[in-house]
This record gives sequence, C-alpha cells and structure tokens, in this order.
Amino acid sequence: MDFPSGDLNISAGDRHTFQKRHGIVGRSTEIREVVDTIMQVAPTDITVLITGESGTGKEVIARAIHAASSRANRKYIPVNCGAIPEGILESELFGHERGAFTGAVDTRKGYFELADGGTIFLDEIGDTPISTQVKLLRVLENGEFMRVGSSEPRRANVRVIAATNKNLQEEVRSKRFRQDLFFRLRSVNIRIPPLRDRRGDIPLLVEAFLAEMDDARRDIMITDDAMNALMRHSWPGNVRELRNVIESISVLERGNVVDEQVIGKYLHAMEPHLDDRFLPVHLGKTSEQAERELIFHLLMELKTGMDSLHRLVEDLRQQRPLSLPPREEPDESRISLENHTLQQMEAALIAHTLRRFHGNRRLAAEALDISERTLYRKIKDYGL
Ligand SMILES: Nc1ncnc2c1ncn2[C@@H]1O[C@H](COP(=O)(O)OP(=O)(O)OP(=O)(O)O)[C@@H](O)[C@H]1O
Ligand SMILES: [Mg+2]
Repeated sequence: MDFPSGDLNISAGDRHTFQKRHGIVGRSTEIREVVDTIMQVAPTDITVLITGESGTGKEVIARAIHAASSRANRKYIPVNCGAIPEGILESELFGHERGAFTGAVDTRKGYFELADGGTIFLDEIGDTPISTQVKLLRVLENGEFMRVGSSEPRRANVRVIAATNKNLQEEVRSKRFRQDLFFRLRSVNIRIPPLRDRRGDIPLLVEAFLAEMDDARRDIMITDDAMNALMRHSWPGNVRELRNVIESISVLERGNVVDEQVIGKYLHAMEPHLDDRFLPVHLGKTSEQAERELIFHLLMELKTGMDSLHRLVEDLRQQRPLSLPPREEPDESRISLENHTLQQMEAALIAHTLRRFHGNRRLAAEALDISERTLYRKIKDYGL
C-alpha cells in the first residue's frame, strides 16, 4: 500500500475533530491526505513507516497513530535508533541476560518486552546497524526476538511505527539498509511533505504556536507583511524551525506588534549564515585548507560581534531602544586559536554547531558531516 491515497470518504468534521484531538495543525491538501491516511491505519495493527525531512512532524504523527489505536491505553515507547550507541542498541531493544556482556549485572527487559500490548516507535530507523536490522525483521515478521545472551525465543505483541528522514531506497542501494526490512516496513508509507511545499499551513501553525504561549505573550500581533515574509521563507528546518522562530520572538521581543523587520531579524538568525561556506568541510580538503577556513570563520564571527557592538553604541548615543541581537546566550565556543588542543577546538565547534541548529542533533551532525551517533558520543565525551 502506498499512502497517502485518495477517496477515503472522511468528512471534514471528523478530520477536524481528529486533528484537534491529536494536535495536528494544517489545512493543506497534503496534511489532509496524511491525516486521512492515519485515521484509516491507526485502528489496525499494521506497521507504518513515516518519512519526511527533519522537523516535518514525524513524531507528532507517530503519537497520533498510537493515541488513535486500540492500544492507546497501553505503552508507547519511542526509541531513537540513531542516538543509542551501536553496542547497546540491541540490548535496549530486546533486553539481555545477566552476564551477557561486561556490565550486564542483572537480567533486563528490552523495549519490545516493555511495550507488550502497546506501540514502539523506532525513530531514525535508517541509522540502525545492519546486525540489529536482521533482528528487527524477525520481530516484525513473527513477533519473535531473543534477549542478548539468550537463545530462548520470546514473543511480544507490539505494533511498530518507524520513521526516518533518510531515503531508505538509497540506503538499500548502498547496502546500509536491508532490502527485506525495507519492504516489510514500507507496507504503509506516510510521507510528510516539507513545510515549503505546504506554505498555506504557516498562518495556522503560527496561530497555534502563539496560542501555546504564556498569557502575557498571547496577544502578539503579526502584521500582514510579516506573515508574508514567513510564507516566503524556505524553512529548511520545517515546522520545528517555525516553532523556534515564534518562541524566540515571544521571549525576546518586548513589543506586541511583530512586523516584517522584526521577522527578518529572526529569519536571518535561523538561516545558515553567509559565512558558513567558510566552515571547515573536510571532504577532499587538506587539513591546512580546513584550518585556514576555520580561522576565517572565527574571524567572521568576531566581525559580526564587532558590528553588533557598533550598533549598540550607536543606539546608546542616539538614545534609541537597544537593537539587541535575538540570540544572547553566552557563547563559550568563541575561543581563540592559540593554546588550545585539537579536542578543545572540536568540542567548541560542536557546541557552536548545536547552538546554531537550536540543539537539533540531526542537523548539527549533517552540518559537521558526521553521523548522529558519532555526534552523540562526542557530546557525551566532551560533556556538552
Ligand atoms: N502538523 C503539526 N502541527 C502542530 N505541530 C507540529 C506539526 N508538525 C510538527 N509540529 C511541531 O514541530 C516540531 C517538530 O515536530 P517532530 O518532532 O514531530 O518532527 P520530526 O519530523 O520528528 O523531526 P526530526 O526528523 O528532526 O525528528 C514539534 O515541536 C511539533 O510539535
Ligand atoms: Mg523526530
């Protein structure tokens, strides 16, 4: 089955009620099709694969499918297969016996056992190691699995929802993903289009995000020009990026009227900066080139800092309200290039990149050209 499919005979009223109940905002044809599909598949036990770019709402949809299913009162366990270190993913999913590996002091149930009767959400399924994929296929085919360190097959009655922002077909071609598991998963594939392909949903999303604000900020008024600017933006970070912009504005702006100029500041802050082309990209580059680019990037940052200082001084001189930049967190990553180890520089670059993408590890890992798992490990190693 390839979803979304049309002609499901779902009334506008039913769809609206469903969306409200599950917090799915949007009136575009694309979102309607997604909603119609989940209304149709939710009550079944069918495995669902949700695909879409980062921030498009895959997790929102997964939760809605569980909440609208007959398993709603049972457990829903989300597992980020991309962030759990490779060595422990299998024991997290399937459990382990005492003594199965160093550190396994007790027998432990895995998520499949814990979710018995409920739903498991395998997020970032595209990042699952091949060895674990075989075991996932088995549990999907006949509900059977084995704890690490045991040869006794166990059974769990678990509905599986999986999600990825990777092109799994491409992963299969490059032998990183098993074809049999791919075929098994995509029996129902819900594709969530990027926000730039359903711009009509933007005003509704903005309204919904503003309604979630504290009472004091709920009366923020977005002018028509400002809304048009939001509609024109390309939203590479999709709905998550839009939510971040609205939240930042509500926290950092003092006035209640948000015009195009205000929006411009925040959209600029969210866009990859012009000088990002000077960030080191190690592929095919000598370390000397990469180092030069890093120095150049840090100089550009210094210049941006100086420019804001100039603006502030000018504001003070003219007794204007201060034009503070939107993001004001202390930036400990801005360190000089002297007397630092390569590790310190790496930690600083990672911290900076995480901030740049508002803590979104996927986007940060992509920008750094490392896997999310490697990023996760480094975050832990450096205590970031
Ligand atoms: N249709 C929607 N209605 C309301 N909020 C939404 C919608 N889609 C996404 N969001 C919000 O956008 C943010 C990102 O959504 P979500 O975490 O589901 O995205 P994702 O596709 O799982 O992202 P990632 O691939 O990075 O994990 C969340 O705050 C979520 O509440
Ligand atoms: Mg997600």
